[in-house]
Amino acid sequence: MDDSLIKINVEDHEGNQQEIEVPTDISLSLMEVLKGMDYHILATCGGMALCATCHVEVKNGYQSLTEPNDDEWAMLDTLPKLTQTSRLSCQIKVNGLKPGMSFKLLGETQI
Ligand code: FES
Repeated sequence: MDDSLIKINVEDHEGNQQEIEVPTDISLSLMEVLKGMDYHILATCGGMALCATCHVEVKNGYQSLTEPNDDEWAMLDTLPKLTQTSRLSCQIKVNGLKPGMSFKLLGETQI
């Protein structure tokens, strides 16, 4: 068994839930990994915490993530669909994820 692969759950914009395996031994963001798996995330700013199209709601495991930085808070504050556990997935590193975490995609898919 490969210890660096963990399973997390992702719900797409249509409400389809899927368990996916993500590698945690790489320094990519959750946004980059999800985009690589063909999830519909525009990520127009390229991961700079400026566009919020990578907005996700953390349905499970929010407390185990590191705190958002000031730039992320500032961008989250502007979102109409803000939830109690909203994050920008470009600011979440996959090497900090834990098995069983769950994310719902909320970012705009057209701008
Ligand atoms: S990709 Fe633009 S804010 Fe995350």
